[in-house]
Amino acid sequence: MLSARSLFQEIVDNDDAFQLFCSIAASGETQGGWENARIAALVPDSMRDMAPKIARHGADEDKHGRIFNALLRRRGLPPVPVPPETDYTMLLERRGIGLPHAKLRRGDPLTERDIVVYLAHSRVTEQRAADQMDMLVTHFGEHPELGRAIRLISKDEDNHLAYCHEELLRLNRAGHGRTIAAVLRESALAEIAIHRDVSLAVMAHMGRLLHWPRAKSAALATGIRGMYAYERLAGWHRMVSLEMPERRDALGGPATTAPEFA
Ligand SMILES: [Fe+2]
Ligand SMILES: [Fe+2]
Repeated sequence: MLSARSLFQEIVDNDDAFQLFCSIAASGETQGGWENARIAALVPDSMRDMAPKIARHGADEDKHGRIFNALLRRRGLPPVPVPPETDYTMLLERRGIGLPHAKLRRGDPLTERDIVVYLAHSRVTEQRAADQMDMLVTHFGEHPELGRAIRLISKDEDNHLAYCHEELLRLNRAGHGRTIAAVLRESALAEIAIHRDVSLAVMAHMGRLLHWPRAKSAALATGIRGMYAYERLAGWHRMVSLEMPERRDALGGPATTAPEFA
């Protein structure tokens, strides 16, 4: 039976597949951490009060990167290079979604619009992260090796998503509504296509590592394309809505640590 649970179980049970999975995850989280840290450092003066939360967001993502690396270490596995076609963050950046890394690297001061773009982009990608972690918690939240890590990351991703909703609603009221709506739409439509491409690429690598029969790989690819068709038709709306979260000020206060991992 092909289910998210059985697929992930296969990946967890195989060192090569687990190594690739954790390496891809660690790299994505670390890139997210770097982006947020740079943005926090370059926030315009008019939005200075947002900097601590952006920095906290970055510290959380960085911690997630360290957690995935710790999971590798505990199994005695080094990280492996991330195949470019599986590099979600890089592919989004290349499509012009979010803020250009070159701009962040150079340290150009950011505008208010840049911050709105960053938050709208994050509202979309954090939805994906929160949904994926939610799925992992459902099936592996009690797993002896992974449960704690997954639950911890999942809680953070929920906070990140809540923070994006709250901040964007505030910026909506401050007159940025048109930009927010446009960037949310553009980001969501690009994200669902990149998510499909990355999923297909990751599954192709997993299929090779796990020696999947051709029919299984084909069925999975069909499933991924079907999910994209659904998201393109209707599902993407879920990524662009804005609602006041139950948990307010989710990134207020200092970042939480995970000393047992890193
Ligand atoms: Fe994360
Ligand atoms: Fe996140």
